[in-house]
Amino acid sequence: MYVLGIESSCDECSAAVVENGSRILSNVIATQISIHAPYDGVVPEIASRTHTEWVQPVVARALEEAALGKGDIEGIAVTNRPGLVGSLLVGLSYAKGYAYALGVPLVAVDHIRAHLYAPHLEFQIDYPYLGLIVSGGHTIITRVESFDDIEVLGTTIDDACGEAFDKVAKHFGYGYPGGVAIDRLARTGNPEAFSFPDPSLHKGEHRYDVSYSGLKTAVINQLEQFRNTEKEPSSEDIAASFEKAAVDLLVRRVTKAIADTGLSRIVAGGGVAANTYLRQKLKSLNGLEVFFPSLKLCTDNGAMIAGIGYHYLDGGVRSPLTVNAYSRVEGFRKTYP
Ligand code: KG4
Ligand code: ZN
Repeated sequence: MYVLGIESSCDECSAAVVENGSRILSNVIATQISIHAPYDGVVPEIASRTHTEWVQPVVARALEEAALGKGDIEGIAVTNRPGLVGSLLVGLSYAKGYAYALGVPLVAVDHIRAHLYAPHLEFQIDYPYLGLIVSGGHTIITRVESFDDIEVLGTTIDDACGEAFDKVAKHFGYGYPGGVAIDRLARTGNPEAFSFPDPSLHKGEHRYDVSYSGLKTAVINQLEQFRNTEKEPSSEDIAASFEKAAVDLLVRRVTKAIADTGLSRIVAGGGVAANTYLRQKLKSLNGLEVFFPSLKLCTDNGAMIAGIGYHYLDGGVRSPLTVNAYSRVEGFRKTYP
């Protein structure tokens, strides 16, 4: 089955064609980074307006690169949650019109689940596994039984990991998107130049939870208090020390969850899964299989939407043309015993 996937939840306008949830025929990603860069962050109004201009040519290009015509498309998958509602509505409305016109089934999918599906487009991965979803809006440690059966073990109690990268980068003027800028600077910095405190969150119901607002405040407002060196620290040193603190916290929680659950596989997805230090650190854990998507499939893309969408469509799931867009997803809250 050829599925067209459409993604417009934030600042990437993307469309892809994926065959049977596994073979990527095309994955066109038109990024709005240069449009939002002057503001050091995504401006929702500009994002949705740009999607309205781009969605049609992006879909046309996805078909062209897949060497398919409209009539070859057998189903359409589109992100309808979570994200910026104005942006989501553009892709969703376009997908509805397209599905209606072609007379093919439509399924609206969850962007978070799709991030975790992304590595399945590149690797044969068996369930169950420990799933780590780290993006600009989410930081979630999960036990994954199937593409749609995901139990939340831990999450952030305040800011998302990517959000902390973005805010620190914005404060120091390192560039946008912040995660990419910090990753680049950190490579030549001294990660020991500063020692930032750990959030004191590790027991009971918060065993696998993380917190990033304290670290963000420490880096932005209290930097000098945590300095270890006499030498004047560089931007590279600040970036490397922050990145180490942010990633080490995540890796400690993941290690604990692996030890408790006995799972032997880790699968990561989301924009922060592109981070060089996180990739090195998780891959160096002993006795585990660790899967990261390639960099293009870490950040937002239509292929992950088409990929997961295929499994819903194949299972008979259909969304009506009245399906709406939602900024949040309730299912990704942790359920306390
Ligand atoms: O998954 P994504 O494209 O969009 C959301 O669903 O949020 O993730 C975007 C986030 C941003 O916070 C961005 O700064 C971060 O991913 N990011 C990175 C890297 N590349 C993107 N963070 C750390 N290191 C990177 N290399
Ligand atoms: Zn995303």
